[in-house]
Amino acid sequence: MPLNEHLRRVEIRKAALRDALESCLHGVERVVLELGCGHGHWLTDYAAERADAFCLGIDVIGDRIDRATRKAQRAGLANARFLKAEASELLEMLPEGVTFESVFVLFPDPWPKKRHWKNRLFNASFLGALAKRCASGSRLYFRTDHDGYFAWAEEAAETLADWKVAKDGDWPFERETVFQSKADSFQSLILERV
Ligand SMILES: C[S@@+](CC[C@H](N)C(=O)[O-])C[C@H]1O[C@@H](n2cnc3c(N)ncnc32)[C@H](O)[C@@H]1O
Repeated sequence: MPLNEHLRRVEIRKAALRDALESCLHGVERVVLELGCGHGHWLTDYAAERADAFCLGIDVIGDRIDRATRKAQRAGLANARFLKAEASELLEMLPEGVTFESVFVLFPDPWPKKRHWKNRLFNASFLGALAKRCASGSRLYFRTDHDGYFAWAEEAAETLADWKVAKDGDWPFERETVFQSKADSFQSLILERV
C-alpha cells in the first residue's frame, strides 16, 4: 500500500476512535483501563465487583472486542465498555479531562525475540505518555508469565521519572484471565504514579 494511502487510513481510524471515545466516555472523568483485554473475561468480572468505577477495555482485535461487548451486555453491566483500539492511539485520541484511576496490563504479548522488544507495550515511551493521563497515586498493574519480559519491565520501571514501584502493593482483584489459566506461573509488578 502506498504510504499516503496508509496515512489516510490511519487518520480515518483515529477520527473514528475519537468519536467512539467521546460517545462512550460522555460525562465520565475517571476510568479503569485494561489494555489488551482479549475477550474481556477479566474486566467484566472486575466491573461487576466495582459498580462505582467506569471500566474500559481495549484490544486491537475486533472479534475479541465483539465478544467482550456481548459478555458485558449479557451481564447487564452499564459500567463496562470495550473498544477496538491500539494502546498508543487510545492515548492520543482520549478526550480532554479523562484520567485513568487504574490501568491493567495482563499477560501482554511478550515479543520474545530481541529484535521485536521495541513492540512491547510496557516500554518507557508508552509509560511516559500514559503518565500524562494518570493523576498522582494512580496505579498500573502489570502481570506476565514471561520471565524475560518481567525482568525487562522491572528494569524499565527503575528508569521512569513519573512512576515508582509500589513494593507494598496488593493486587486489587484476583480473577484468572484466559492467558493466566494457561500459564505455569506468573509475576506481577505494580507501579504508582508519582
Ligand atoms: C496475550 S493476549 C492477553 C489477553 C488477556 N489480557 C489475557 O490475559 O487473557 C494479549 C492481547 O493484547 C492485544 N494487544 C496487543 N498489542 C496491543 C496494543 N498495542 N493495543 C491494544 N491491544 C493490544 C492482543 O490483541 C491480545 O488480545
